[in-house]
Amino acid sequence: MASSSLLSTAAKRLEGKVAIVTGGVGGIGSTIAKLFCQHGAKVIIADTRDDESQSICNTLFVHCDVTSESDVQNAVNKAVSTHGRLDIMVNNAGIAGAKVLDILDCDATDFVNVFRVNTLGAFLGTKHAARVMKPVQRGSIINTASVAGIMGGLPHAYSCSKHAIVGLTKNTALDLGRYGIRVNCVSPYIIPTQMTRSYFGLAEDDKLDVHSNLKGVELMPEDVAEAVLYLASDESKYVSGHNLVVDAGFSISNLALNLFNQ
Ligand SMILES: NC(=O)c1ccc[n+]([C@@H]2O[C@H](COP(=O)([O-])OP(=O)(O)OC[C@H]3O[C@@H](n4cnc5c(N)ncnc54)[C@H](O)[C@@H]3O)[C@@H](O)[C@H]2O)c1
Repeated sequence: MASSSLLSTAAKRLEGKVAIVTGGVGGIGSTIAKLFCQHGAKVIIADTRDDESQSICNTLFVHCDVTSESDVQNAVNKAVSTHGRLDIMVNNAGIAGAKVLDILDCDATDFVNVFRVNTLGAFLGTKHAARVMKPVQRGSIINTASVAGIMGGLPHAYSCSKHAIVGLTKNTALDLGRYGIRVNCVSPYIIPTQMTRSYFGLAEDDKLDVHSNLKGVELMPEDVAEAVLYLASDESKYVSGHNLVVDAGFSISNLALNLFNQ
C-alpha cells in the first residue's frame, strides 16, 4: 500500500503545479513543456514563435519576447490570473548569435542582442517570477545555461551570456532563498535542435558529430528535460544555487592529454 502510493507520487512529480517555460516552442523548451504536462503540471509557453505553439500538448501560449519587461510581466500575470499561482519558472529562451569567433570581427550589436535574449531574458523572468513567488514563500526557478557557461570555446557573446546566467543563478539563489524560493540552472552539452542545426549548417537528418566522453549514449532534449524536471520537483527541495551540468563528463575531460583513450 505504502509503496504503491509512493509510486503514484513519483509518476506525477508536478501534480498541481503551474509552470512557465520561456522559449517553449523550441527543441529543448517544448520537450520540457511536454514532460511537465505528463507530470501533471499546468504549463504556459512564453515564446515569440506564435504560429508553431499549437501542437505542444495541453499548454497555454502567451506571446512573450523575453527582452521586453512588459511581455515577461504579462506572461507571469497570465499564469496567476488563469491558474491562481506560479510554482515553476523555466528561463530557457536563447539564441546562439552570429557564428563569428575572431573578436576583431565581432559586432557589438550582435553581442548586445545575445545578452538581451539569453541574460536579460533570464533576469526578467527571475524578477517577475519572484514577484509572485515571494508573497507565498515558495517556488523553483530554473535557467538554461550551457557548458559554454563554464568553459571557453564558443563565440564570445554566447559564452559570456551563459557564464552570466550561472552568476545570475548563484546570486538570485542567495537573494530569494530568504523567501523559500530555489534558483538553479542546467548546463547542457550540444544537442540537435534548430539552434545547433542552423549554427552548424546541418540538415534535419544530419547527425551532430561531437566528442563525447561517455560511450553508447547521445544527448537529446529529453535528457535536459529530465534534469529540469528534477530541479522543478519537490525531490530537489534542498537544492539551490546549483548548476546541473548535463554533458556526460565532457567539461571535466582533458582532451589534450586524453590519457584514458590511449
Ligand atoms: N541546443 C543546444 O545544443 C544547447 C546546448 C546548451 C544550451 N542550450 C540552450 O538551450 C536553450 C534552448 O535552445 P534550443 O536548442 O532548444 O534552441 P531553439 O532555437 O530550438 O529554441 C529556442 C526557443 O527560444 C525562442 N526565443 C528566441 N528568442 C526569444 C525571445 N526574445 N523571446 C522569447 N522566446 C525566444 C525561440 O522562438 C525558440 O522557440 C537556449 O537557452 C540555448 O542557449 C542549447
